[in-house]
Amino acid sequence: MLIVKYMFQPHGDERGQLIALEEYKDIPFQIKRVYYMYETGEGVRRGFHAHKKLKQILICVHGSCKIHLDNGEEQKEVILEKPYEGLYIDNNMWREMYDFSPDAVLMVLASEVYDESDYIRNYDEFLKFVKNK
Ligand code: TYD
Repeated sequence: MLIVKYMFQPHGDERGQLIALEEYKDIPFQIKRVYYMYETGEGVRRGFHAHKKLKQILICVHGSCKIHLDNGEEQKEVILEKPYEGLYIDNNMWREMYDFSPDAVLMVLASEVYDESDYIRNYDEFLKFVKNK
């Protein structure tokens, strides 16, 4: 399984760091939605779904967290702990997020607006869906 982690270019100077992200340039899709998770409780594991169409980039802009990825054949764990790293998650990929540090802010750039019908929330259904591809 290929893990695509973007290393964004910080514009740093003596004042500090700044990262700018533009659709189709730094991000490989049109950004239709941004959301973020914060104050995630200790021991919480969330996600537990795949998307039929939506693609996204996850950026832990503060703190750290781990992402479990599963394409139906292979599983991988990715740690996000720097504000300049972006994890690309393709469609048809099961994901779970966990081990959030208390200060973690996990921001998601998504290629689609929120649409519950794009979600696969049952793991067996996900396996069937990807095997029929
Ligand atoms: P949920 O899908 O449970 O989050 P996760 O899969 O990351 O654990 O989303 C939590 C709630 O937020 C749920 O009521 C749906 C709502 N929500 C929106 O309204 N818009 C969104 O873009 C997202 C991602 C969630």
